[in-house]
Amino acid sequence: VQPSDASRLDADETVARRRLPPHVSEYVTATAGDPRAYGVDEWDDIRIRPRVFGGGVPADLATTVLGTRVSSPILVAPMAQQVAAHPDGEEETARAVRARGSLLGVSINTAIPFERVQRVGAPWWFQVYPLAERELTRAVVERAAAAGAAALVLTVDTTALAVTAPEVEPTAWPIGPASVRLANLTEAERALLGTRPSVPATRDDIAWLREISGGLPVVVKGVLHPDDARIAAEAGASAVIVSTHGGRRSALSISSAEALPPVAAALEGTAVEVYADSGIRTGDHVLAALTLGARAVFVGRPVWWALAAGGAPAVEARLAALESELALAARQAGIPSLQDAALARRGPMS
Ligand SMILES: Cc1cc2nc3c(=O)[nH]c(=O)nc-3n(C[C@H](O)[C@H](O)[C@H](O)COP(=O)(O)O)c2cc1C
Repeated sequence: VQPSDASRLDADETVARRRLPPHVSEYVTATAGDPRAYGVDEWDDIRIRPRVFGGGVPADLATTVLGTRVSSPILVAPMAQQVAAHPDGEEETARAVRARGSLLGVSINTAIPFERVQRVGAPWWFQVYPLAERELTRAVVERAAAAGAAALVLTVDTTALAVTAPEVEPTAWPIGPASVRLANLTEAERALLGTRPSVPATRDDIAWLREISGGLPVVVKGVLHPDDARIAAEAGASAVIVSTHGGRRSALSISSAEALPPVAAALEGTAVEVYADSGIRTGDHVLAALTLGARAVFVGRPVWWALAAGGAPAVEARLAALESELALAARQAGIPSLQDAALARRGPMS
C-alpha cells in the first residue's frame, strides 16, 4: 500500500465525518460492540508464499461473478442509508461502479427507486431481508427483478449494533430524505410492516427467492461456518459471502479472514462461488482473500465514506486505488492470474 493511498482513505472518512451529523457517522462506524470486530487486523496478518516461474506478467484483474464480467474482483457491498451520504444515494455509487466496471449490491433499505439505479447502467444485485409480510418480500423481489437486478443477495445474519444513543438507529432518524427506507415499497406497504419489518431467513427462502424472481441466482450473505455453507449450497444457493456484516453481527465473532478457508474448503468442487467482505481496506487484503479461496470481495465502509466525502468521483478514486494496489500485490506474489491466487496460499507444506 502506498502511504498516499492509506492516507486517502483516512481523508475520505475525515471529510465525511465533518460533513455528516454525528448520529449518521456513528451509525456507519458502529459494530456489535467490540471495535476489533472490523476484522481489518486479521487481513493484515495473512501471509502468502510468493511464487516464481509465473512469468512475471502483470495479472489481469478481470473476472466474472455469477457470469457477470467485472473488471476486477473488488465489488461494492450493499449498504443502507446511502442518501445520508449523498442525495442520489446508490444512484451516485452506481455511477462510480459503472466507471470502474464493477458491480454493486443495493440494500432493501435503499431510499432510491430501483429504476434510477438501473438507468445508470452498472450491474447490481438486490440485497433482501425476508420481510415480516411474505407477500411484501415477493413484491419487492419481483420489482427488483423487473428493474434488472442480476442476482438476489439474501442476508442471513441479523445485526445488533451497540450504539451510545437510540437516535443512532436509522429507524429513529429525524424525518427527511435520509430517514427513508424500503423505498421500493409503497407507503401503505411500509405501514403494514410497522417497526419490525424483517424476520430471520430460513434455508427454504433460498429456493423460494429463486422461484419468485423468475430464476435469479441467490447469494447467501453472512455465512461463517462451513456447515452453514453446505446447507446454503444444498438449498440451492449460487454463491455465499463470508461476512461478519462489517463486525455488526456479533462482538464474539471470528473474523472473515479466519472463517473463509473452511467455508471455501466446504464448497470446493461445487459450482457455488465464494466471496468475502468485512475489513477489506487495501489491495493486499483483496489478494489475501483470493489466496484463501474467495473469488471476489465486497467493500463497505470505505465506499460509504468516499460517497459522503466526494460523491462518485471519490468512490471511483477509492475503487481505482484498490485495483492498482491489487495489481501490484498480485505481481509481487508472482501469480500468473488472480484465478491462480490459491497457488500462493501459505498452508502447511508436506
Ligand atoms: C452503513 C452500513 C449499512 C449496511 N447496510 C447493510 C444492509 O442494508 N444489508 C446488508 O446485507 N448489509 C449491510 N451492511 C453490511 C455490508 O454489506 C458489508 O457486509 C460490510 O460493510 C463489510 O464490512 P466493511 O464495512 O468493513 O467493508 C451495511 C454496512 C454498513 C457499514
